[in-house]
Amino acid sequence: MTKSKFNLGAFTGRTAKRLILYIILFSVLITILSSALQLYVEYQDEVGQIEQQIEQIQNSHLDGIAHYVELNNPVQLQLLIDGLVKLPDIERISIIVQDRVLQRAGGVVSDRVIDTKFLLYPLDPSKAREPSGTLHLVAGLDPLYERLKQKIWFILVATAVKTFLIAAFILLLFQYLVTRHLNKISQYAHNLTLNGHAPALTLDRMPARRGEVDELDTVVTALNEMQTRLAQELRLREEAEFDSRTSREQLAHMDRVTSMEEIASSIAHEINQPLTAIATYAQAALRSHKDDERIPSDLQKALEKITEQALRAGEVIRTIRQFISKQSSSRSEIGVKALLTSTSHLLETLGSQYKVSLVQGVADERLTVIGDLVQLQQVLFNLLRNAMEASPAESAIEIWVEESAHESDDRVSIRIRDRGCGIGSEAAKEIFTPFFTTKKEGMGMGLAICKTIVDAHNGELRFSANEFGGCDFTMLLPQGDKLDAKPEAKSGAKLESDQGAVS
Ligand SMILES: Nc1ncnc2c1ncn2[C@@H]1O[C@H](COP(=O)(O)OP(=O)(O)O)[C@@H](O)[C@H]1O
Ligand SMILES: [Mg+2]
Repeated sequence: MTKSKFNLGAFTGRTAKRLILYIILFSVLITILSSALQLYVEYQDEVGQIEQQIEQIQNSHLDGIAHYVELNNPVQLQLLIDGLVKLPDIERISIIVQDRVLQRAGGVVSDRVIDTKFLLYPLDPSKAREPSGTLHLVAGLDPLYERLKQKIWFILVATAVKTFLIAAFILLLFQYLVTRHLNKISQYAHNLTLNGHAPALTLDRMPARRGEVDELDTVVTALNEMQTRLAQELRLREEAEFDSRTSREQLAHMDRVTSMEEIASSIAHEINQPLTAIATYAQAALRSHKDDERIPSDLQKALEKITEQALRAGEVIRTIRQFISKQSSSRSEIGVKALLTSTSHLLETLGSQYKVSLVQGVADERLTVIGDLVQLQQVLFNLLRNAMEASPAESAIEIWVEESAHESDDRVSIRIRDRGCGIGSEAAKEIFTPFFTTKKEGMGMGLAICKTIVDAHNGELRFSANEFGGCDFTMLLPQGDKLDAKPEAKSGAKLESDQGAVS
């Protein structure tokens, strides 16, 4: 809805009312003062004109009148004063000789008058300088007052009209230049939201030129800055709240993980005993009935399988216990093949859960790395688990082991390649940061721990995207001496064939 630029509501506002009142009061005061001054000056002017007229009568006609009085010529006298009484504002002229009115013209009608008397002297210088009579002039001031009164009315009406027009004009200007913007500002402040997407406040006016910023521009800038700052503060606060919530959840998770480790450790211990017993009994049964023909060959095979599987289960449990037991780090030469095999044991259940297969490609089975077996198992375990979690079902995860491509570089490269969803460029910057995770249930510690362990081994952990859209994680570790013909002597683990499917 678009609002008219002129909103009548603006005229009923308190500021508008006060503005009108002040304009009118001030205008009335100024009008009264200036009119009074003007009237006073005009009054003085007009009274001056009347006095000038009287003075002119004195200068031009006093001698003539004295002459006719001397000649005792009443006709001429009457003619003369009849002419003079017609002059403006002169109301009555009388000639008084020996306290008696000799001639008179006109009559006094005004309440306020200027009353002037001139003595008449004989013109003949030989005669005594005794006055022969008096000329009595009465000028009326009422017409003058009447004129001034009319003028006052005119001034008052004109001023009222002028004041009204100016007040209306100022109000319109005020509404156009100020009130409508104030309304918009207050509406904006009223609807202010701090979601950070609110558009900035702009006023419907010409953009300010540089150096010509006025109060409204300053208010708008301040409001916009305030909105941005508040939104920022709110975002920071929300992030801090989120962080602290996440940290609490992570602590709780850590706590659960630690308890799980203890539980798993004791379960492994408990299960190991019966497994050993199963293997021992199965082996004993096999031995004691080895050449007994009464025992069907199926049963013998079953006993062999029982022994084999019990030993295998025992090996898995032994690896798990080793993996979760808190040991101080030690360095030894570890056969990479043994490292891979023991880690695969750990991953067996996960592999079948995710329905992925592990494919190993070891360039030289005699390769060894210098490090801590349990810690390196942990690194491989984490990398492979991430790969499994990212991979689609029925896909393969490859583990390639070879000597580092650079001749000067005496390291072994273990590369884990998956065909999973890959890592976006934004996430790629963060993956080694503790607690960075994109998984709902993830803790985001796996890669951070891997990196710490590999760094502590003077190694390197690298990440790159591969041509299948998945990820390659490459671990470079210091190379140990190659195993001799009897690898078991060093690693204590049996080597498997190149291709070992887990699931
Ligand atoms: N092989 C992989 N493929 C795709 N994304 C991966 C892979 N490995 C790690 N990531 C990404 O790195 C993040 C951090 O991994 P990690 O530190 O192991 O924590 P978590 O597995 O608990 O999320 C994962 O959440 C995931 O987004
Ligand atoms: Mg992980």
